Amino acid sequence: MLVHHSPTARLWLLRAATSSYAVRIGDDDTPRQVHWGRPMTLEQAETIPAGAEELIGEGGLATPSLQVRHADGGRGVDWRFDGHEIDGGHLRLHLSDRHYPLAVTLHYRVREDSDAIERHVTLRHTGDSAGDGAGHGAGGSTGDRSGHGPLTITRLDSAAWGLPVLPDYRLSHVSGAWGGEFRVRRGRAAIGETVLTSRAGHTGHHANPWLMADDGSATEERGEVWSAALAWSGSWRITFGRDHEGLAGWSGGFGHEGVTLTLAPGEEIGTPVFAGVYSAEGFGGASRRWHDHIRRHVLKFRDTQPVIFNSWEATEFDISQDRQLELAERAAAMGVELFVVDDGWFGGRTSDERGLGDWWPNPGRFPDGLDPMIKAVGDLGMAFGIWVEPEMVNPDSDLYRAHPDWVHHLPHRERTTQRNQLVLDFSRDDVAAWAHGWLDALAAKVAFLKWDFNRPITQAADEAWIPHVRNVYAILDRLRADHPHLRIEACAGGGGRADLGILARTDQVWTSDNTDAAERIAIQHGFGQIYPARAMGAWVTDSPNAISARPAPLRLRFHVAMAGHLGIGGNLMAWSDDDLAAGAELVALYKDIRPVVHDGDQYRLGTRGVQYIHGERVVVLRWQPSGLDRSAVPLRLAGLEPGARYRDVDSGRTHHGAVLMAHGLPLPMWPFDGVSDLVRLIREDSP
Ligand code: GLA
Repeated sequence: MLVHHSPTARLWLLRAATSSYAVRIGDDDTPRQVHWGRPMTLEQAETIPAGAEELIGEGGLATPSLQVRHADGGRGVDWRFDGHEIDGGHLRLHLSDRHYPLAVTLHYRVREDSDAIERHVTLRHTGDSAGDGAGHGAGGSTGDRSGHGPLTITRLDSAAWGLPVLPDYRLSHVSGAWGGEFRVRRGRAAIGETVLTSRAGHTGHHANPWLMADDGSATEERGEVWSAALAWSGSWRITFGRDHEGLAGWSGGFGHEGVTLTLAPGEEIGTPVFAGVYSAEGFGGASRRWHDHIRRHVLKFRDTQPVIFNSWEATEFDISQDRQLELAERAAAMGVELFVVDDGWFGGRTSDERGLGDWWPNPGRFPDGLDPMIKAVGDLGMAFGIWVEPEMVNPDSDLYRAHPDWVHHLPHRERTTQRNQLVLDFSRDDVAAWAHGWLDALAAKVAFLKWDFNRPITQAADEAWIPHVRNVYAILDRLRADHPHLRIEACAGGGGRADLGILARTDQVWTSDNTDAAERIAIQHGFGQIYPARAMGAWVTDSPNAISARPAPLRLRFHVAMAGHLGIGGNLMAWSDDDLAAGAELVALYKDIRPVVHDGDQYRLGTRGVQYIHGERVVVLRWQPSGLDRSAVPLRLAGLEPGARYRDVDSGRTHHGAVLMAHGLPLPMWPFDGVSDLVRLIREDSP
C-alpha cells in the first residue's frame, strides 16, 4: 500500500520507494508535516509531533505559501478540514475556509518505483455569483458569505516542505548566465531567508527551480539529502527559511512577487507539481533518484535518442539548401541519425534583425520549400528536424506588421526589444491558435523541433504570465498527441528552459550555447544534479571554441559530449579527413555505450569523470581538460559489486570490483592537458 491512514491520529503516511512522508491534520484543522525522510510505519509516525504547515498561511513568521484577499478586504485562512480521498498512490486532503468561500485541495502522489513525492494544490472560489451562499466550504455559516466578489491571489505555492530540526543546514542549487548555466553552489544556509527565483517569464539561466538541503555533512555518496524540483517553465520562486531555533524548510511555486491572479466565483486554479526527493545516500543518491523518476514518469519517450547534427555553429544565418546538404552528407557518413537545420530557414530571417514570426521557407534559400531537403536527408538515412521560436517576433516581420497587438506589452511603455525581438502574448487564445496551426503543419513533415525562446518576458499584464506558459504547454501536449513520433528539444538561448514541466512535454534540453569542453564539464555537472543524461543535449563543435577561443582535442570534445545526448555541431566542411574518420569511430563507440549512459545509474567521480552502470555494463568517461586542476590521483569507481570481476572490453584486462572502488582505475598517460578516455567494463561474475 502506498498511502496509509490513521483516522484517530488524522494522519496519512505515504510510502515512496526508499523513503516516507507523513502529514497530519492538527487540532485547529491546519495540515502539518510530520515526517519526510527514512522509511517509517504508521505506528511510528503517530508518535511524532506535528511540524511545519503544509501550505503556509499568512499571519505566521515564515514566508507564506498562500496569500489571498477577499472582496471585502479579508485576508488569511482559517482552515476547516473537509475530508480526504485515497486513489492508489494519490492522496487528496480537502480543506475550506471557515468564513470565506475558498476551498483548497492538497494533492500528494507517490509510486512504488520512485522516491519523488509529487505535490500540488487546487484552489476554488466556492462562492456563487448570485450570492445565495450555497456551495462547498461555507463553513456552516451559509447566511454570511462575505467576499462573494472576485478573490485576489497574490501567492499560491504548490507546497511547503519542512525539514527535521537540526543544528545546521547547507543549501545546494545552481546559478548561471547565458553560456554558463547550471553552476553548482553549495554553502551554509543563512539564518533568515534565501530566495531562488526567476522573474523572466521562463525558467531562467540565472537559477533553476530546484534545491537540495543537508546538515552540512552529506557527501557525494553518503548522508541525508532533502531536495525538491518545480515543474514550471515560467517565472517561479522558492524561499528557503531557517531560524535560530533550528526550524527550516521551504515553500515554492509559480509566479514572481507583485503578480496577482483573480478568481471569480466558481473558478478554480491548479498549481504546477513541486516534487520532493529524500536520499540517505548523499547528493549522488539524490541525483540518481531524480534521474530514475524523470526517466520513468516525466519524459514521454523512453526509446533510443538519435545522434544529432545541428547546423547552427556551422552556418549560423548563412544557410542554403545546397550548403545544408553538403553538411548532411558528411554528417550521415559520420553516423548521425537526425539532421537539424537551425535558425535562418524561414521568412526574411537572414540575420537576427528580421523575419522572426514569418514561418514559411525562405524562397531564396529553399526555392521548392522544405520537401526536397527533407527527402534528400531521408535518402541519406537520417531523420529531419528544424528550429523554431514560436513565442517570438521581430518587429521587422510581416507578422508584427499585421498584428502589433499580439505582443506582451504594458500601456504607455515603450516595447523594449532584446536580440531585436518581442514576445508574443501566448495567453491570448488567438495567438496560441495561430501558433498551433503552423506548428501542426510543420510537425506533419518533420521528426524533430528545436523549440527556442531567446529573451525573457519583461513587460506583461498580470493576468498573462501564467496562461502564457499554460498555452505553450497545451500546444506542446497537442503536438505530441497528434504526432506521436515527433521529438522536441527545449531551448532558451541554451539552457534557460530546463525544468520538470518542459521535460514532461519534450525529450531533451539544449543545455548551453557554450560547447567548450572544459566549461561544459562544469555545466553538465550542474545539469545532472537533477536531470538525466538522456535529456542533456551535448554537441561536439569546432576547435578553437567559438565562445571560449580555447582549443581542445577532438577526443576530449567527444568524450565530454558522450556523457549526455550526443550531437555534432561543428562545421564538418572544415574538418580534416582524419577528424572525420576519428569522429565516425567515436560516434560508433557512443552508439555502443548509449544505453548505459542514457538508462544507467550515474555516479559523478568528482569533476574529473563520470561513471554509469547498467546491468552488467559499466562505462567511465574521464578527462583532464586543463592544467588548472591537473591531478594524477586515480579515480575510484563507485557502485560496483566488490566481489565481482570487471573486464575492460578494449584492453582485455580484468579488475576486481573491490580494488576499483578502493584504489581506482589505473591511469593512462596522465596528467597531460586535453587527455581524456572512455573505459568500457563488463561484469564477468558475481560472488
Ligand atoms: C539560441 C540557441 C542556439 C541557436 C540560436 C539561433 O541562441 O541557443 O542554439 O539556435 O538561438 O538563433
